[in-house]
Amino acid sequence: VTIYVPGDSGALALGADKVAKAIEAEILAHGIDARIVRNGSRGLYWLEPMVEVATDAGRVAYGPVSAKDVPSLFEAGFVTGGQHKLSLGDPEKIPFLAKQTRLTFARCGITDPVSLEDYEAHGGLTGLKNAVKMIPADIVKQVTDSGLRGRGGAGFPTGIKWKTVHDTAAEQKYIVCNADEGDSATFADRMIMEGDPFVLIEGMAIAGLATGATKGFVYIRSEYPHAIAVMSKAVEVARSAGVLGKSVLGSSQGFDIEIRSGAGAYVCGEETSLLNSLEGKRGVVRAKPPLPAIQGLFGKPTVINNVISLASVPIIMDKGAEYYRDFGMGRSRGTIPIQIAGNTKHGGLFEVAFGLTLGEIVDEIGGGTVTGRPVKAVQVGGPLGAYFPRALFDTPFDYEEFAKRDGLIGHAGITVFDDSADMLKMARFAMEFCAIESCGKCTPCRIGSTRGVETLDKVAGGIEPEKNLALVTDLCNTMKFGSLCALGGFTPYPVMSALTHFPEDFRPVAVAQA
Ligand code: NAI
Ligand code: SF4
Repeated sequence: VTIYVPGDSGALALGADKVAKAIEAEILAHGIDARIVRNGSRGLYWLEPMVEVATDAGRVAYGPVSAKDVPSLFEAGFVTGGQHKLSLGDPEKIPFLAKQTRLTFARCGITDPVSLEDYEAHGGLTGLKNAVKMIPADIVKQVTDSGLRGRGGAGFPTGIKWKTVHDTAAEQKYIVCNADEGDSATFADRMIMEGDPFVLIEGMAIAGLATGATKGFVYIRSEYPHAIAVMSKAVEVARSAGVLGKSVLGSSQGFDIEIRSGAGAYVCGEETSLLNSLEGKRGVVRAKPPLPAIQGLFGKPTVINNVISLASVPIIMDKGAEYYRDFGMGRSRGTIPIQIAGNTKHGGLFEVAFGLTLGEIVDEIGGGTVTGRPVKAVQVGGPLGAYFPRALFDTPFDYEEFAKRDGLIGHAGITVFDDSADMLKMARFAMEFCAIESCGKCTPCRIGSTRGVETLDKVAGGIEPEKNLALVTDLCNTMKFGSLCALGGFTPYPVMSALTHFPEDFRPVAVAQA
């Protein structure tokens, strides 16, 4: 019997290690022939630790399991799928999972993350095997035709980025994976690195073959020690199996990967400061041009892609560009792993084709707030994303549709707030966040964010609110158009959306009561 207990950070935070120990003790005590696999998470975090048993009739899930539930689970005969108050039945039939289209996350929570045999048994490496037989330009074309766009936030077409690197002649080129997932409410990168690391390794190796890069780096934030450990182990396994190394799967090109850890700066998620950090320098933003695709790491042509962009490539090389492109809407093709967090009943990862409306995600998938109070606002796209009120819940999840309404989907994290949220405080928080995380290179961001905090404090204190709100608006315009990177440039989104959609929260108390 195989028993799956997630080793994912989210499940560990909820006591998965204690559950695994308790199960091990019961197995020994009862002399049961069973093994425990520490899988990734399926992404249904309100049910974690979600334990699964592989029975003759398929997988059966239980959750949320705590260590004290374990003896009763064994009494109920859970190793053969017995009924228990924590029974969830076939996990694939849980509506939150059944409604998803899992392409990138197809194996996450199912396989043993560091078993290459398991990975291959579930369709892994097929994309890379196809790529090995193709010329680089054709690989680039397939990725371009799939319509895949950068999942880090900017949505730049991945194939076009690869083409620039492919077309730039150089002795050395690099693939850099941006795993500095710093946005609030985002955990897709972490989940895939901990739950299915080989899919990222495979995607990076394909990028190497496509562009002529022989070396890759995964830059993982230091706050992700489990992801760093799983990725490091998986790279070792891939190297000893000949997937990585001097020859990729027996081809004439080599590709190897190094795992690097960041030091805790949000701005190092910006691609040029990430490159500086990788080179051992201070994580300060570099002006573009030159684009990293032409002069990137150590001045060489470099593909920098987010984890999910790279992890989406194997399925494209396996099933073809058309298969992937057929999902989605408008110019947003394929699927997007939406991360639902904050004050929500069903917090977790929901991979689906682009096009669901924000209301469907928040009300139907997320199930409303955990406090039971009405949803007031939803922040989409991390701390630099706009706050959307219920009036905009008909917005489809699509890069262009969000931009039309002065928002962004960013890395697809959404944070739900109930009606107790004070939007003036949230606007102040955005300015404060920017002031703390600013790299200091340009004045609109470095000075503007601090002045923004002070001015919003004046509004909160009832000091000349109209004049000061006009100043905040003016300041936001300067930051939006005058900042060198997205940190200063996007801070106006949360501030201005809060002000535009929730003006009542910005009125001084005396006026509001009148
Ligand atoms: P950008 O618009 O400057 O660039 C997008 C990407 O396309 C970059 O990699 C750039 O080098 C590349 N590019 C542009 N033209 C190219 C060409 N002709 N050939 C090859 N490559 C080309 O956007 P930026 O500043 O890199 O990212 C901003 C986004 O990052 C925002 O949308 C925001 O949502 C997101 N973000 C994500 C975070 C996360 O934790 N994932 C954190 C903060 C922001
Ligand atoms: Fe640095 Fe802020 Fe300017 Fe970006 S906008 S370069 S983080 S000072």
